[in-house]
Order: sequence, then structure tokens, then C-alpha cells
Amino acid sequence: MSKIRKIVIPVAGHGTRVLPATKSIPKEMLPVVDKPLIDYVVEEALEAGIEHIIFVTGRNKGAIEDYFDHAFELETALAEKGKTELLEACQSKVLTAGSISYTRQQTPSGLGHAIWCARELVGHEPFAISLPDVIIKGQPGCLKEMVDHYAKVGGNMIAVEEVPQADVNKYGIIAPKGDAGADLIEMSGMVEKPPVDEAPSNLSITGRYILQPEIFALLANTKRGAGNEIQLTDAMAGLMTSQSFFANRFSGESHDCGSKLGWLKANIAFGLDRQELAKDLKDYISEISGQAPNR
Ligand code: G1P
Repeated sequence: MSKIRKIVIPVAGHGTRVLPATKSIPKEMLPVVDKPLIDYVVEEALEAGIEHIIFVTGRNKGAIEDYFDHAFELETALAEKGKTELLEACQSKVLTAGSISYTRQQTPSGLGHAIWCARELVGHEPFAISLPDVIIKGQPGCLKEMVDHYAKVGGNMIAVEEVPQADVNKYGIIAPKGDAGADLIEMSGMVEKPPVDEAPSNLSITGRYILQPEIFALLANTKRGAGNEIQLTDAMAGLMTSQSFFANRFSGESHDCGSKLGWLKANIAFGLDRQELAKDLKDYISEISGQAPNR
């Protein structure tokens, strides 16, 4: 079975759910504690053994490219001031030369179209996809967990988790076939953003995928679906008719940072994980949660 060497990370979206913050910075560069969202997703990918990162980018997203490159003036200034730890923190983000590629999605035609834009760079091998709105706290990371399962079962795989029934229309939702409580669930279908009363379950697709390259031919012929966009979920539903597909109920905790509340919660969750911040942050949370809710 081929190793999963490449990952596609689509970063062309406008981030309208967190405007105006994203008017002039890419949403993927919003910080959670002291690292941008994209950093969490790239770290998770590297932990899973990914060797090549393909960003599907767009206009006004140059800050992402700069983040994974040297910043010579800054590095010189930090070195001159003897700020070794900060210097190392910055330099550790420079990805190995040649292990990162960028291609542009020129029109906002949906997630399926964004992934299709990476077809030449992926070539004919299985690959991963991570959506950088979603960061996942977990040990091992979600993608590592999936890659380990994939090494045993092959085929295609998506990460899923339960969401409140009222929210099913915000996600791709799967129709489980076998034991819906298992780590790896077999499926009979999936649907993008179904109306609440038509959803086949409340198991949502969480933004991590391992797919076979045959997905690209399907994406090329996928008609516009939910939101009048070319949907990855629709192409995957097609692939499922000819290849094995598993849904992995991953063990970590996801944070949808494309929403304001999700981003705020992520800052608290990841902040509480940091030794230097945990105590003061906890004290502050108990202090304000004792006060009137409309404070
Ligand atoms: C995308 C996918 C959807 C998935 C979601 C996870 O939707 O199309 O299937 O459940 O990401 O965040 P988007 O949030 O881009 O509308």
C-alpha cells in the first residue's frame, strides 16, 4: 500500500465568517494563542509523516507563503538582541526547500474545485487533505490516527464526529452502514449540508481526508451542488460506489476556527494547555463566569 506522502491544504477561501478581521489577513493566519491556524494543521500533517505540502492558494494570501520562509530582517534583529528562543521559534517554521508547493484557485468555485486544482501536483498516488479552519487537539494528531488506520485497511477515509442535530446543515454528513459507534465506520452514502430533517445521521465530516487519486476524474465532472459550489462531498459519494471508504471517529477534540465562537473556544482550550498561561487564564475564566452573563 502506498505511503501517504502528500497533503493538499486549500487556503483560497475569503473567511467571510470572521470579517472584518479577514479583510486584510488570510483567515488561515488568525492566531490561536501564538501560532496561526495554518501552523497547527501543518504540524499535524508533519507528525503524520507527510513529506510534501500543496497549498491551493489565491490572491491576498502571500502571508502564508512568508510564514513558512525565512524572515531575514527579523531573524537578524532577534539574533543581535540575543533572543535565541524566539529566533529558533521563527526559524523552525521554515519548511524544507522543495517540500512545499503552491497553486492558485483563480475562482471561488468550491472545495471540490480547490482540490481539483491540485491534481497535477498530487499525481497518481493517494493523498491527504486538511481544511485549515478546523484545528484538532489530540495525541496522536487526527491525521496520524487516520494514516495508521489507512496502513491497515487502505481505500479512502474521512474523519467524522457527532454534531448537534440542529447543526447538520452546516457540514458534510455521512450515512453510516455498520456499527456507527466503531472507530472505523462503513458508510452507505454522504451528503453535503443536508436540511436538518433530511440528514442521514448527525456524524459530520471534520475536515481531514485520505483519498485515492481517482477522485480527480470525479471532481472534473462534478456538477455544482450545495451553495452552488463544486463539492468534494459529492465527488466522494461517487467514489464510494467503486472503492472502499471508511469514516474514522477520531479521538481528538476539534475546533472550527472559521466561526467566531469556535475560534474563541480554541484560544481558551489551547491556552489552558500552555503551562505559562494555564493558571492565570483559569483564574480569569472563573472570575468572569461568576459574573452576570450580560456583563
Ligand atoms: C467543508 C466541507 C464539509 C465539512 C466542513 C468541515 O465545508 O464541504 O463537508 O463538513 O468543511 O469544516 P465548509 O465549512 O467549507 O462550508
